[in-house]
Amino acid sequence: MHTGGPSGNERLTATTYAGSAAYRLNGPPRLFMRALAPLVVAATAVVLGSGVALLANGEREDTWVGVHKASFVAWLALFSVHVLVYVWRLPSLVLDRRAPGFAIRLALVGVVLIAGLWIAAETALHDRWT
Ligand code: HEM
Repeated sequence: MHTGGPSGNERLTATTYAGSAAYRLNGPPRLFMRALAPLVVAATAVVLGSGVALLANGEREDTWVGVHKASFVAWLALFSVHVLVYVWRLPSLVLDRRAPGFAIRLALVGVVLIAGLWIAAETALHDRWT
């Protein structure tokens, strides 16, 4: 009997990233990657934050330079492991037609790739920030 609530499939779609069966069945990341993840997030935040602080105060010699350099070295090591382990999953994750939001996902990946290439070209070619 239909109870009037969302069907199982609708519920699954709506809660994929809020503890759904499919999401839970997939299991947590492997222990090593799980331990690494908070460090990747923290290092990314410190590199970006200290970079923005440097842009904002226009300094070249203060402690933010040290923070930015040290956090970049840590970030590069952590980020390399994260990307080398996960990059192989990307094609099947992005191109999975059965997962919800296929079109919007492809569009977002396209927009982000073009924006990234544009920023790289602008900063490398025009050397605006140095
Ligand atoms: C080009 C760069 C990156 C690629 C290709 C990438 C790719 C991935 C992939 C494929 C997953 C697993 C998704 C799944 O199987 O459902 C993942 C998980 C995750 N990523 Fe990234 N990622 C990148 C950068 C980052 C950055 C910069 C951060 C931190 C700010 C980050 C934080 C996470 C977290 C917290 C998880 C979930 C926990 C885990 O599985 O480790 N990622 N990433």
